[in-house]
Amino acid sequence: MSSSKNSLANKAQAWSARFAEPVDELVQRYTASIGFDHRFALVDIEGSLAHAEMLAKQKIISAADLADIQKGMAQIKGEIEAGQFEWQLALEDVHLNIEARLTALIGDAGKRLHTGRSRNDQVATDLRLWLRSNIDEIQGSLTALRSALLNLAETHAATIMPGHTHLQVAQPITFGHHLMAYFEMFSRDASRLADCRKRMNRLPLGAAALAGTSYPIDREWVAQKLGFDGICTNSLDAVSDRDFAIEFCAFSATLMMHVSRLSEELILWLSPRFGFIDLPDRFCTGSSIMPQKKNPDVPELARGKTGRVYGDLIALLTLMKSQPLAYNKDNQEDKEPLFDAVDTVQDTLRIFADMIPHIEVQKAVMQAAAEEGFATATDLADYLVKKGLAFRDAHEAVAHAVKACVGRKCNLTDLNLSELRFACGLDTRADLISEDVFPLLTVTGSVQSRQHPGGTAPQQVLAAVQRGRAELKL
Ligand code: ARG
Repeated sequence: MSSSKNSLANKAQAWSARFAEPVDELVQRYTASIGFDHRFALVDIEGSLAHAEMLAKQKIISAADLADIQKGMAQIKGEIEAGQFEWQLALEDVHLNIEARLTALIGDAGKRLHTGRSRNDQVATDLRLWLRSNIDEIQGSLTALRSALLNLAETHAATIMPGHTHLQVAQPITFGHHLMAYFEMFSRDASRLADCRKRMNRLPLGAAALAGTSYPIDREWVAQKLGFDGICTNSLDAVSDRDFAIEFCAFSATLMMHVSRLSEELILWLSPRFGFIDLPDRFCTGSSIMPQKKNPDVPELARGKTGRVYGDLIALLTLMKSQPLAYNKDNQEDKEPLFDAVDTVQDTLRIFADMIPHIEVQKAVMQAAAEEGFATATDLADYLVKKGLAFRDAHEAVAHAVKACVGRKCNLTDLNLSELRFACGLDTRADLISEDVFPLLTVTGSVQSRQHPGGTAPQQVLAAVQRGRAELKL
């Protein structure tokens, strides 16, 4: 980036003759946004072209001016894409850099581009255009992740694993069902993102600095040209609020919270103490000192990066909260947190969509873990209720049986019929427990019996996968 004396002169021009001396060098660096807002370059040009076309259509500028602007912008776009554009710190931001180059290339027509416009409505438009295309990309990556979860859930619709509460084995579930829980979370995230896009997709241009403009502009035409669903209907609101960026970061924070929970589970499952899954080496790293280590760096970093995305949300909320209407320079600080959230979410989703299909499941280890810890105790209680016992009494009877098994260091399924009746304290009530109890006490019998929408039975998992596919139009 250049900051030559020559560009200082440019800057004085960009702002008008109001200033008697050049801005202090540190102030220049402090106030410039070109170091990061050059990411808006292409949408800035797109917005300017739509504005210029509208100005010509409304006879505010001539057709010849428009032609010059189009030619100049095409060249600038080429220079930017080729990495040849020289961004100048002295020209403060992406908008002034492009405008200065345009004027250098085409002369007077370049100076007419800013008619009826301010950087305030220009930057608000750039933000929305830029975020909109990133939302569309992120929505695509989120679909890829959800589809990867659906496929893995289908493969493991009947794979038994222990379901946990308080990180203790609670009841047997299917791995497919567990994965579908994340599918649900990510589906709600996708709908939050779609919602955010819908509210955001309004055109700020025409608001000018804050009060609108006296030129006979056609805002609806520009809105349509740029793919907006309509215009921002209040000029002060259009240039000053960044709630759409806040909504995006709120979506991002919630999504990352979900990703982080999944990551935490992957880390646990990968630890040799669980040993439920394995991940291909390309998603892990080794230790520089312990040759035996294979560390789950991707999920750990995703869990860690969740914190910075929360930070992005808090930064934007705090940035906004004390600003009087309308535009304040504070708003220049909206970009870096937003860029950070977009980049983090995009990278995370891409890596996870790529990694999920490669999770290798150690089925035998998962099933053995589900068989520990009296995971089917509730099934025995439910069985007794179906035979006529009140649930609280059944709960009590099974608690006795579990206690007896703990003493004998065995499982409920290791008891024979009369031992089970005795352990439950129900030896005088032979009618309550018969041989048909034993299939229900197996982990397979337990998951099979949960046959209702939202239940963990393999058929229900497959039905949920079908619903998911329909939702994703796969
Ligand atoms: N770089 C500025 C920003 O990001 C553009 C708007 C400048 N407007 C102004 N009135 N100084 O917000």
